[in-house]
Amino acid sequence: MPKQRAKVVVGNWKMHGRLADNAVLLKAVAQGAADLPENVLVGVCVPFPYLAQAQALLADSRVVWGAQDVSAHTEGAYTGEVAAPMVVDYGASLAIVGHSERRNYHGESVELVAVKTQRVLEAGLTPIVCVGETLEQRDAGETSQVVGTQLDAVLAKLSPQEAVRIVVAYEPIWAIGTGESATSQQAQEVHAFLRGRLVAKGAPDVPLLYGGSVKPENAEELFRQPDIDGGLIGGASLKYKDFLAICEAAGAVSVTQ
Ligand code: 13P
Repeated sequence: MPKQRAKVVVGNWKMHGRLADNAVLLKAVAQGAADLPENVLVGVCVPFPYLAQAQALLADSRVVWGAQDVSAHTEGAYTGEVAAPMVVDYGASLAIVGHSERRNYHGESVELVAVKTQRVLEAGLTPIVCVGETLEQRDAGETSQVVGTQLDAVLAKLSPQEAVRIVVAYEPIWAIGTGESATSQQAQEVHAFLRGRLVAKGAPDVPLLYGGSVKPENAEELFRQPDIDGGLIGGASLKYKDFLAICEAAGAVSVTQ
């Protein structure tokens, strides 16, 4: 029997949330997560101003928290940026890097994403490195080349010891926020390809998450795929019932696999 990897479900709130609503959401997630099987890891990545709130409301729970981006610098004259060690000050353990919304709206290059990954690791956080192709790239048969280039740029900067500490999220851009998830077969195919790259780097057990319109209705089927270790959840992570249902789907898979 191959070693069973834990299932990981992380919410990416993006630029959503206000103090009062967050409190309801965080408390409900903390409470619901308590009943999940042990090998399901649950996290939320919140806007920077709410890291302190996440710390206050999640510290006694099994839910971990983190940021959605960090600066490529450690400190200095970089107005508006937030360094990874600052995120650590609030008890965080995760930081998303290279989300397609950062790559597309903020011009983040594959090299910049690789440097940010290094900063996150240096700070002792777990980076969730996002990769994904556009619909045009998929239609042109370029998916492997695009996600391979994005992942390779990161792995090239890491030692095998560092590589085993990352999480990778495959998020096809055409599936993000569209309601149209990749099919489990489409996602598994890309995950298997990414797994090959990680195996070659000596990091075969890096969690590989799928993101893009994951909902309670499709989560279990996605999470059942051999190389899909969980999900990075956008819209559905803002509704605690949906988010917890997705976490439960991960739990159902983890006990039967
Ligand atoms: P949705 O779940 O809203 O499609 O977003 C996915 C995503 O971008 C998570 O990072």
